[in-house]
Amino acid sequence: MKKALVLAIALVLCLSTVSVFAAPPKVGMCIYKFDDTFMSYVRNQIETLAKGNLDLSTQDSQFDQPKQNDQIDQFLTQKVKALAINMVDPSAANVLIQKTAKKKVPLVLFNREPGDLDLAKYPNVYYVGAKAQESGTMEGQIVAKYWKAHPEADLNKDGKIQYVMLMGDPSNSDAKYRTQYSIEAVQAAGIQVEKLAEDTAMWDRPKAQEKMAAWLAAYAGKVEVVFANNDDMALGAIEALKAAGYFKGGKFMPVVGVDATPPALDALEQGTLLGTVLNDATGQGTATYELAASLASGKGAATKVAKLANKDGKADPKGHYVWVPYQMVTLDNYKQFKK
Ligand code: GAL
Ligand code: CA
Repeated sequence: MKKALVLAIALVLCLSTVSVFAAPPKVGMCIYKFDDTFMSYVRNQIETLAKGNLDLSTQDSQFDQPKQNDQIDQFLTQKVKALAINMVDPSAANVLIQKTAKKKVPLVLFNREPGDLDLAKYPNVYYVGAKAQESGTMEGQIVAKYWKAHPEADLNKDGKIQYVMLMGDPSNSDAKYRTQYSIEAVQAAGIQVEKLAEDTAMWDRPKAQEKMAAWLAAYAGKVEVVFANNDDMALGAIEALKAAGYFKGGKFMPVVGVDATPPALDALEQGTLLGTVLNDATGQGTATYELAASLASGKGAATKVAKLANKDGKADPKGHYVWVPYQMVTLDNYKQFKK
């Protein structure tokens, strides 16, 4: 009798322990390539939040969409409860949606917006990201303000900005919009521009340094402003400029980027980077984690942190988008972004 009671109590204890410590849901994550500075901050935030809460496994898609599709197939075979995917190629969204819908696995896409799709048409597919147009506009506004306050920046005194543009991956809408909207914002401020050169450096610092060195040789003394689609490329350009004698003895070049990475904030403080735009890695990572965790545990998409909206950015509790805002960062306010 006594023995049976002890056994029964032990069993109850055992069962309750199991339910209290239920295994965290399995979630699969892919990053378009690990070797990307900004995405490594986003990944880090997701992995930090997931510790102890999700059984998260992360794959490096190595800038290869077919490879990413295989990784997703494997995650689906392992019966993950949700997927968090940073696509290599936004036109792959259709295939991914079909794959995951078939297995009824929720899909959270992040930082690479799916082509022309409106995700509201699909149950269980979401996007977390930022409106690239905004970041371009802010870059342009930083330059316009500087230009108006510094007449000496017009080296050839023709009233126009002679500029060079370092682009990210040209197939990436962030790259396209930042290129377009930065220049449009300068023009909207009533300033004329002349493009000396524009080329991709694939978001990459050493590639940008090389490109900038070549442009400085080709357009010696003519470049008045350097636009970069992200901070890594802005920092590459700054290296080339330093090697060409800039940032000492009063020789300055206005360089702007996007992301507000820690090394970019250091450059801002040192007076080499004129300005940047906060691309909120912590905010994007947190929203991606919240959505994926909530969907994986069957609680739906509504979370306290991730504010749902529609494709155009309007708040909508039934929306399938979470838009994380950009912020302009200059010497006036950079300190608040330092960690
Ligand atoms: C952008 C970011 C870039 C790069 C790119 C990759 O949002 O500003 O630095 O990470 O995403 O798609
Ligand atoms: Ca000029």
